[in-house]
Amino acid sequence: MLIVDLGGQYSQLIARRVREARVYSELVSHRVSAAELQEKNPVALILSGGPASVYAEGAPRIDPGIFELGIPTLGICYGAQLLALELGGRVDRTGVSEFGRTELRAAEGASLFASLPAEQTVWMSHRDTVVAPPAGARTVATSDHTPVAAFEDAGRGLYGVQFHPEVVHTPHGQDVLKNFLYEAAGAVPSWTPAAVIEEQVERIRAQVGSDRVLCALSGGVDSAVAALLVHKAVGDQLTCVFVDHGMLRQGEAAQVVETFDGVFHVPLVHVRAQRRFLDRLAGVVDPEAKRMIIGEEFIRVFEDEARKLGDLRWLVQGTLYSDVIESGGTDGVAETIKSHHNVGGLPADMRMELVEPLRLLFKDEVRRVGEELGMPERMVWRQPFPGPGLAIRIIGDVTEERLEVLREADAILQEEVRRAGLYRELWQSFCVLPAIRSVGVQGDSRTYGYPIAIRAVTSEDAMTADWARLPYDLVDLVAGRIVNEIPAVNRVVLDVTSKPPATIEWE
Ligand code: XMP
Repeated sequence: MLIVDLGGQYSQLIARRVREARVYSELVSHRVSAAELQEKNPVALILSGGPASVYAEGAPRIDPGIFELGIPTLGICYGAQLLALELGGRVDRTGVSEFGRTELRAAEGASLFASLPAEQTVWMSHRDTVVAPPAGARTVATSDHTPVAAFEDAGRGLYGVQFHPEVVHTPHGQDVLKNFLYEAAGAVPSWTPAAVIEEQVERIRAQVGSDRVLCALSGGVDSAVAALLVHKAVGDQLTCVFVDHGMLRQGEAAQVVETFDGVFHVPLVHVRAQRRFLDRLAGVVDPEAKRMIIGEEFIRVFEDEARKLGDLRWLVQGTLYSDVIESGGTDGVAETIKSHHNVGGLPADMRMELVEPLRLLFKDEVRRVGEELGMPERMVWRQPFPGPGLAIRIIGDVTEERLEVLREADAILQEEVRRAGLYRELWQSFCVLPAIRSVGVQGDSRTYGYPIAIRAVTSEDAMTADWARLPYDLVDLVAGRIVNEIPAVNRVVLDVTSKPPATIEWE
């Protein structure tokens, strides 16, 4: 099914929710023509929300021919207003915006609300309001401030909701989407990890034939899953090069080697390159300079190894669907606050063609595919970790000694967070080492040691994040262990800022 992106902040989320209902979905730009859309042959359409008023200058519109295609369509918020405006309804500028949780009353027999309570809480975020549904459609829900909170015309397959079914603040939202997908549009819930693997394996085989394929492993989930998919498709035609830059967390490098070499028997070149990276990072304190150096050096090391392997045509890359969208796939605008040099990126002057088996997947889907392929739980469900690794969690220049201190502190935090059963609830939890020293006292003597900061956040997508309210007992336990077990550390602090105004990482 296709989501026509009208510029709303939740378009990606809608795509994810639809896929969670096991229906494959893609985003398309609102500039898509009716003919292009028809060519894609979608089972249904969703018109997303948008930031603007339908009456604002330059407000996004869609090709009116799309309404003639007879494809079941659900408009959400701005999308619903657009349906009303284009198809004989009315949208008013009420001047009052409705924002936040709202009580909704559904009409009897409304197919969008089938099997759901007649009254439910929904999330609203709009200024204009539909006051008359499209000609022939019936109003099937209202709220105190919204006379037409939902409408439907089952005969023409037209549906609209003013609220946001895709956000968690609409508790029955996923059921509303499922009602639309399964009942109104007749979509079949067949998008499963097993189906993804089968499809990708076939595609990869068709793409590379009997050629050899190269893959750079960074230690992260994406490149690991991409590599395993390719290995499943073409076996030992694949060689993986694991550039171990020495900035990974405790035990991670060993786990990559153990998993790829030991369990899956993937041909693997393990390059222990920490020295090279440390030499280039010596004395560097600027965060962006660290990122640049690590990104560049990664490519250099990788190229050196690739050269030794001879002439290879194909390179595996773990590009995700969100990368595709954010690099302008559907008119998305991504703001650059930090240059997320993705370690493992394609060397610009390496003339290889790309195999991108994750190009259509969101992160959580990559994890499910990884699980299905038999990757160890610890690797699959690992919290996000930046490509430059611990180098951007040492505030100051990176040395072997500081890396060791940070790695030990971080391992203690990870262990206790897991033991408390919080690991998967947190978007990220990690330690930071600001390379300053402060005074402490231990036993009878004065110490002059490093502080360690604990950073833990909850988030949906890393664009915004809340500092996690870790239980004080857990914080106490972690702090106690860190200062007792790591002689170089004499103080532990807790980061209590959200994003914005802070970012998740300290650099
Ligand atoms: P910030 O710190 O910008 O981070 O709030 C948002 C998310 O991005 C991750 N991050 C990076 N990932 N290379 C990466 O691959 C980087 O240079 C980088 N910097 C930040 C961060 O861990 C968080 O998940």
